[in-house]
Amino acid sequence: MQHLLTLDGMPRATVVELLDRAQHFADLAGDSDALRGTAVCTLFFEPSTRTRMSFQLAAQRLGAHVLNFDVSTSSARKGETALDTMRNLEAMGVRGFIVRHHDDGAVARRADAARPGTALVNAGDGRSAHPTQGLLDMLTLRQAKGEDFARLKIAIVGDVKHSRVARSDLHALRALGAADVRVCAPSALLPDDATLAGCHVTHDLDEAIDGADAVMTLRLQRERMEDGLVDSLEGYHRDYGITATRLARAAPDAVVMHPGPINRGVEITDEVADGPRSLILRQVANGVAVRMAVLERLLAG
Ligand code: CP
Repeated sequence: MQHLLTLDGMPRATVVELLDRAQHFADLAGDSDALRGTAVCTLFFEPSTRTRMSFQLAAQRLGAHVLNFDVSTSSARKGETALDTMRNLEAMGVRGFIVRHHDDGAVARRADAARPGTALVNAGDGRSAHPTQGLLDMLTLRQAKGEDFARLKIAIVGDVKHSRVARSDLHALRALGAADVRVCAPSALLPDDATLAGCHVTHDLDEAIDGADAVMTLRLQRERMEDGLVDSLEGYHRDYGITATRLARAAPDAVVMHPGPINRGVEITDEVADGPRSLILRQVANGVAVRMAVLERLLAG
């Protein structure tokens, strides 16, 4: 594995190896020196808090030198191409690039142009993929519910159509053998491609949540309102918001997840987001461990 661009088609064994290694890092009290002397660079063309910070921390915990490429103050502003930017950073000795971009396929295109020995990690491209989010979500689910994904009932609620998180979660859930995945959203926020193959699709949140072991809700991207795909935040919350009342239909020990950032009071209430069933901050913590596992796999040795 030279790059990590997607979880689509990743064999189950590889997913499990990465999760096992991430669990090792989650349990590790100290740091590792697996990447001592290796330079990695975060290259984000879209805003981020969790992904960018946790990749930086993960690389530091592995002993790497970490560069943070600030697009807004770089020579990209003077017209330098993305490829020339990467070539120059490679010439300085950077071996790993962690890239977020608003265009589908943008990270893969950079990976195609990378030198042998250079690794790219997709930190989220367009609506296509966010593979480390998919892995950290699976690690969080596995810690809470065990390794047998085939027996789990999982509800994914929200803007699946525009969500790279949902796509990577679905890829990972398939790889791990999840058989009962319910996807719930208004019609305008459901994809019309093969993303939902094998899922039970419904517009009825109560039906989706009924008996679920895990409810994975997604950020409502507010620009979807501007696009006219959602009538009002109040209406969305009424029909698709995760509330304590709604959650009472899930299994008694059901857990709730959200990739962040949260629109409090829209896709989830404070009471649920901050309540005992919420794994939201556990997801964030696991992000560091998962990203350590990914960077080690791509760059060590
Ligand atoms: N979950 C996620 O990708 O968050 P950020 O956009 O803050 O990185």
